[in-house]
Amino acid sequence: MCGIIGIVLRERGLLLKPLGTAIKECLKNLEYRGYDSVGFAILSNDGLVIRKSKGKIDDVTSKLSFDESDGVCGIGHTRWATHGKPSDVNAHPHIDCSGRIAVVHNGVIENYLEVREVLVGRGHEFKSETDTEVVAHLIEEYKKLGLKPYEAFKKAVSLLRGSYALSVLDLDEPSKIFFARNTSPLVIGIGEGVKFISSDIPAFLDYSRDVIVVQDYEVGYISRDVVVIEKLMDRNYEFDTNPPGTELVDHSSRVRHIDWTPEMARKGGYPHFMLKEIHEQPQAVTNTLISVPEELEETTKLVSKADRVLVVGSGTSYHASLIGGLLLNDIAGIKAHAVISSEMKWFINSVDEGDVVIAVSQSGETIDTLLALREAKRRGALTIALTNIIDSALARESHLTIYTRAGPEIGVAATKTFAAQVVTLTYMAIKLAERLRTAPEGRVSDLKSWLRELPNIMSAAISISESKVRALSGVTTIWRSIYYLGRGLGLPTSMEGALKLKEVAYIHAEAYPAGESKHGPIALVDDGFPVAFTILGGEVDLILSNVEEMRARGAWTLAVMPKGLERISRYFNYIFELHHLPYELTPAVYIIPYQLMAYYAAVARGYDPDKPRNLAKTVTVV
Ligand code: M6R
Repeated sequence: MCGIIGIVLRERGLLLKPLGTAIKECLKNLEYRGYDSVGFAILSNDGLVIRKSKGKIDDVTSKLSFDESDGVCGIGHTRWATHGKPSDVNAHPHIDCSGRIAVVHNGVIENYLEVREVLVGRGHEFKSETDTEVVAHLIEEYKKLGLKPYEAFKKAVSLLRGSYALSVLDLDEPSKIFFARNTSPLVIGIGEGVKFISSDIPAFLDYSRDVIVVQDYEVGYISRDVVVIEKLMDRNYEFDTNPPGTELVDHSSRVRHIDWTPEMARKGGYPHFMLKEIHEQPQAVTNTLISVPEELEETTKLVSKADRVLVVGSGTSYHASLIGGLLLNDIAGIKAHAVISSEMKWFINSVDEGDVVIAVSQSGETIDTLLALREAKRRGALTIALTNIIDSALARESHLTIYTRAGPEIGVAATKTFAAQVVTLTYMAIKLAERLRTAPEGRVSDLKSWLRELPNIMSAAISISESKVRALSGVTTIWRSIYYLGRGLGLPTSMEGALKLKEVAYIHAEAYPAGESKHGPIALVDDGFPVAFTILGGEVDLILSNVEEMRARGAWTLAVMPKGLERISRYFNYIFELHHLPYELTPAVYIIPYQLMAYYAAVARGYDPDKPRNLAKTVTVV
């Protein structure tokens, strides 16, 4: 939901390129957060230079002449529209009436209409339809009332309701970038002679791997010499000029060194991040399996005492939660349910101290998941975050955190982080079964040794599937709608497969429990209607009757299934045959053909799979 960047240099030219070029490159690394429009502001000798336009960075690069703009202090923005359609005028930065203050923002200012009305009453003229523009005018108004720029900024922030990651340039306090955060992510990067403020770490990985995560209700500034962070203590939303109470934050102990490399945030020869990240899955699983056992030691002790476990997530993370929930029941004999984060509200009344809530989220910032976690915590549940992002909001707010080690995921469609989440939850279920002795010892050690083999099996699945998927992409171009059917773990695997196809290839795809398909969905099936079956091993005969039902209506059938099931191959028009492995470990492998199918279908249809329309990588609005 929008990417923001701010850069302050000790001296001009320090990055060996114009500041505008550096901003453009950082924004390219953030484009997965939104790509409706792009813009930047730089403090130059001629004052504040502002350029912005509707469109993706590559499409507007020459129009905006990033490379011709230089200075020591600048901000930039790539937008996922919330208030106001994608257009040049709604693109960020937004400025005040005097043109001396430039603001970029990620989030939603909930009280913007109310504030706007007051400001219009005080003579301010608004140009855009955005909620963001009020921030520039509000700062201007407080300056008019006598506050110094940074004080005016803090005062303005104290008046805002909603979510925001803000980055602000003010000509009257040059060479500083003001920032503030509530709910929307914001990190500071500290490099040699350069400081960054950004929505996410990959933006500045080329220059810095030392980061401080800004926390909710923190405000501050970066300048060539210092980083200042203050906690905003009162947020009374009064339109007066009493300075808001703040407390200086000692951030020295909050500096974290990130082990991600700049290469991880580059395509490395692949045409798209999505394809690269599909191929990185074996490595993501290997790295996660190295670190997770230790992290799970303490966690499983606590989870083993729970009356019930709720595994909560959105989108792909919800599908991983479903897999985790099924495995906790199946392997560890624990009462566990998966809940969609935005639906948690309707479960929350029964949550109490006996529960453990595991919040699953790649970004650790998804607002629906964060709200679910907060409410569960308030009701006394033990909360555990499972996230890929160090010090993310979920990690900070939960009692315990388990980190997946998938590395930065840039493609909007989650792939390698799904594999890492699934493997972590599987390992957790196995550890719990071991601790609670709910599974025979032989089964536990068997699963553990198969788990070690998983990265190799995944690599093989990628090579087996890729050529078969390429050959299929001609067929996928004619699909308008497809069912994905599965039973047990095959259902969440199908749901994830369907989500991928929808997200990047814009093909309507619906996953359904195979046994339930005859209770309604079958009504749509006629000659050539594509139906994909996820067959994991143990449910072959049960699912076969569903295959027959579909074929009897003329369906075109595809199967993702284990090798060695020749007896059923004649039921399918197209087959992906994968390694035979224990049913419990199949999802991370059997999802691979579906991920590749979505990717190649998108490419065949002429879409950019890294930037699916209307989607953003991290969803920080409810
Ligand atoms: O960062 P999170 O895992 O919490 O994100 C949750 C969903 O927004 C995310 O999985 C979304 O569905 C992706 N686009 C899936 O590919």
